Amino acid sequence: MTASFDFRRGYWSPRMALGQPGMDAAHRSLLEELERISELDDAQFVAGFEHFIALVEADFHEEEAVMEGIEYSALPTHREQHARLLGYLRQTASRMREGDIAAGREVTALMPGWFELHIETMDGALAMQCQYSQQRRIA
Ligand SMILES: [Fe+2]
Ligand SMILES: [Fe+2]
Repeated sequence: MTASFDFRRGYWSPRMALGQPGMDAAHRSLLEELERISELDDAQFVAGFEHFIALVEADFHEEEAVMEGIEYSALPTHREQHARLLGYLRQTASRMREGDIAAGREVTALMPGWFELHIETMDGALAMQCQYSQQRRIA
């Protein structure tokens, strides 16, 4: 697995697609939003970062609902990884509100790597299980 990005072509890459249209669209829009906020000036960046957290939270909830729906055995580990990231993002937002904008910039720069790894591992395994469940329903 590589953790390199072609920044000229954006954070999203078709190789992140997992074959689950809802999940893929959500990941793509999260990465596009991340790219958008990384270009904001300091005056808009805090609000942009908080908006990004809200989107991540909504996406994680949706994914966790899917896992509950298929009684996914790796749900606790996957949920824990989501919770850790959200905790980290919220902690960063509070530092930013106290004036530490640089903390938000650093975290924003780390996010494409976090998402790439999470998508390729945790979400990839979930997508395979979803596919299996869908096939079983059809059969
Ligand atoms: Fe996930
Ligand atoms: Fe995901």
